[in-house]
Amino acid sequence: MTIAPEREQANPLLEGLGVARTPSSCALVIFGASGDLTQRKLFPALYSLAFRHLLPRNFGIVGVARTEESEDDFRERMKAAVQEHGRDPFRDDIWQALAEGMRYVGMDFGDEAGWNKVSKALADLDKNLGTAGNHVYYFAVPPAAIGTLVEQIGKRRSTEGWTRLVIEKPFGHDLTSAQELNALLGKEFDESEVFRIDHYLGKETVQNMLALRFANGIFEPVWNRQFIDHVQITVAESIGIENRAGYYEQAGVIRDIFQNHLLQLVALTAMEPPIDFSAESVRNEKVKVLRSLHTPGPKHIVRGQYGRGWVEGEEVAGYREEEGVAPDSTTDTFIAAKLFVDNWRWADTPFYIRAGKRLARRETTIAIQFQRAPHPPFEAIAGEGLRPNVLVVHVQPDEGVSLSIGAKVPGAGMTIRPVHMDFLYGGTFRTGIPEAYERLILDVMLGDATLFTRADEVTEEWSLVDAIVAFWRRDTPSFPNYEAGTWGPHASDELLERDSRSWRRF
Ligand code: BG6
Repeated sequence: MTIAPEREQANPLLEGLGVARTPSSCALVIFGASGDLTQRKLFPALYSLAFRHLLPRNFGIVGVARTEESEDDFRERMKAAVQEHGRDPFRDDIWQALAEGMRYVGMDFGDEAGWNKVSKALADLDKNLGTAGNHVYYFAVPPAAIGTLVEQIGKRRSTEGWTRLVIEKPFGHDLTSAQELNALLGKEFDESEVFRIDHYLGKETVQNMLALRFANGIFEPVWNRQFIDHVQITVAESIGIENRAGYYEQAGVIRDIFQNHLLQLVALTAMEPPIDFSAESVRNEKVKVLRSLHTPGPKHIVRGQYGRGWVEGEEVAGYREEEGVAPDSTTDTFIAAKLFVDNWRWADTPFYIRAGKRLARRETTIAIQFQRAPHPPFEAIAGEGLRPNVLVVHVQPDEGVSLSIGAKVPGAGMTIRPVHMDFLYGGTFRTGIPEAYERLILDVMLGDATLFTRADEVTEEWSLVDAIVAFWRRDTPSFPNYEAGTWGPHASDELLERDSRSWRRF
């Protein structure tokens, strides 16, 4: 396809995405092309990039999956996916330009003949479409398939251009398997060629945490144990496991959300200012936080699994009744934990974090609760209205930031009430919010790994998960222990009540 200027040059359309260049020509190979992720996220993101003229001038896609299907059927299926899941209006001319460079290979990943077809498709794109030997390989496959892919790609890597690997989560199952995977990748590829995806890092509002903290002078001086009482991070979902029992039974919320998305949110909230915004500087600071995390013990970790209940007006099944789930499954669908970051900035400041499926509503927020005013002169008369200030980053939905402050209610006397100063993305910026995958795919093509997880970050994340799983192995939980449509087990509320605190209400 040829829809962007060839020379890497400043492009005003890129402003919203915070990048300065159009990537150089390349081909993207997607393993797992018949999967859900490819249809729901990857193709809609590619279409949106094409729609905004953000893709390279010469760009091709090779879909690879076990299913045999013709190239035309593949194009039709992806077109339908873009029409269903895309965020931009569907334009046939843009789709045609993208579809022209699409190839499809149906193969078993262990099959040499299949790999020859992939190599041939890439050679064809390089020669006829000018993709210049630059290849991105996207692994939208389960971890068990990764070994074969790495080996084959290592053997067949292009000698002309660059090679980059994008690896979806889960990155391993525990610390040992993640280390093995890192070692395997390290044998064939340099760390700068490996892009481990955590799509939360591609979310605008998550990146805004860095802008909020480091582009403003007023927050950093109070961003520490002296002024902050505690931090609460919630990743709540109202959906269940959506036909993913096979995966979810092995993962649970601890591997699905806690190990990656939640811990990355903790890292961005707690990290020191990086010296610049390069991949290495940002990740150097994040990994220090991950390394300093500890949980004060099993009493401070709550696990849960949903039973039947009502979510957003609809009666829903319990986890054990979901298709493909064992009737006595002990898989966790909820976690709440108290963590500490052992460093000078945060010592003794609790980070309460929770995540779960089938909770009352979808809500991802990072709430920074400041200490109470030390001596409000009107305490006796102001009463209940005197609350600590809270800065809330609304990651989704209703993206924005809000600061609660105490204000005087008009009239005689000195009644104080909390009010909110709000910044809402919807009302402030004219452009819509890009999908995380748009930003991440573009960054891979530009070779910018800032928003990807480095090998050492992943291993630190797994170390903490392994420690928690070790506690959990000691006994069998009594599941289900929360009703769908609630905010999780009682023990989650008790976790904070013991510290005379409570979860924020939504
Ligand atoms: C994925 C998990 O990584 O994130 C899913 O595998 C979860 O279980 C999803 O539903 C949530 O992502 P988002 O962007 O909808 O918050």
